[in-house]
Amino acid sequence: MHARRALLYMPGDDRHKIEKAISIGVDCICMDMEDGVAQNRKAEARASIAAALRELDFGRAEKLARINRVGSGLEADDLAAVLPFRPDGIVIPKIESAEQIQWAAERIEAAELANGWPVNSIRIIVDVETARGILNLKEIAAHPRLDALIFGGEDFAVSIGATRTPDAWELFYARSAVVTHAKAFGLQAIDMVTTDFRDLARVRREAEFGAQLGYTGKQTIHPAQVGPVQEAFTPSDEAIARAQRLVEAFEAHQKDGRGAFALDGEMIDLPLVRAAQGVLERARAAGKL
Ligand code: COA
Ligand code: MG
Repeated sequence: MHARRALLYMPGDDRHKIEKAISIGVDCICMDMEDGVAQNRKAEARASIAAALRELDFGRAEKLARINRVGSGLEADDLAAVLPFRPDGIVIPKIESAEQIQWAAERIEAAELANGWPVNSIRIIVDVETARGILNLKEIAAHPRLDALIFGGEDFAVSIGATRTPDAWELFYARSAVVTHAKAFGLQAIDMVTTDFRDLARVRREAEFGAQLGYTGKQTIHPAQVGPVQEAFTPSDEAIARAQRLVEAFEAHQKDGRGAFALDGEMIDLPLVRAAQGVLERARAAGKL
C-alpha cells in the first residue's frame, strides 16, 4: 500500500496547484472535483485533471482523483473523465453504503479490463463524513476494493448539527469509530483536515493527536501543512531506537523462556512489543529503516 502520511487536496481545475503539489514531496496528491470546485467549474476540473494525469510526471507522489458523491448526478461523468488516464486511485466522498463503493468498483474494473491494466490496480478510498456513513462503517470498511478510510470532520459536524470547537470533542466518537473500523479491516486511516492552515502549531498538534489515536495519515489543504503532518506520522529517531531496543530485549527474554520482563522501570509484554513492531513498520514505510 502506498504511504499516505499527508494527502494534499487541491481544486482539480487549478493546474498551478497540481504542479506545486508535485514539487513539494507530498506522499499523496488528491485532485478534487467535489467540494473544492465551484458548481459551474466541474467540467473544467474534469478536463484539467485528465490533462494533468496525461501530461505530468508525479514522481513518487500517489495521484488520486476525488469524484462527486454517488447520487449527485455528477459522479458518472467525473469517473469517465479521469479513468482513461489511469489515476492511482479514486476517492469517493460522503460514502454511506457498500453499494456506492460497488458502483464505482464495477466501472473501475471495466476500465482496467478494457485497457489491459491489472484488475484492482486502481484503488478506492472513501470519505466517511456523515451520520449514516458512521452508522454503516462495518459494511463500508469490509469492501474488498478499499485501501483506506478518510474521516471528514467538517462535513460530519454539519451532518450531526455539532458546533466545531478547537478541541474537536464533538467529533471524537466518529473519529475513533473510523480508525477502529479501518484497522479491523487492515485499512489505512486518514484523519480530518485542519482548516486553519496558517496555524502550523495547531496542525502539528492535531496531527500528533491523530497519530496517537491510531491514524496513519492526515488530510491537508495547503503546502505549508505537509511537512509538519508527514513528520507527525513518521516515528522519530528516538522512538525508532527505543522500539529496536525493546524488540531485541524481548527476543533475548523469549530465548530464556521469559514472557514479561522489565525495561527502564516499565513492564514489557506482548502488547508493548507489538506496538514497538508497529513503530518499526511505520519507520520502514517512511523510508527511515
Ligand atoms: N495545493 C497545492 N498548492 C497550493 C495549495 C494546495 N492545496 N494551496 C495553496 N497552494 C499554493 C498557492 O497556489 C501558492 O502558490 P505560489 O506561491 O506558487 O503562487 C502557494 O501555495 C501559497 O498559497 P497561499 O497564497 O498561502 O494560499 P492561497 O490563498 O492561494 O490558497 C486556499 C488558500 C485555501 C484557497 C488553498 O490552499 C486551497 O485551495 N486549498 C485546497 C482546497 C481544497 O481542495 N478543498 C477541498 C478538499 S477539503
Ligand atoms: Mg468532505
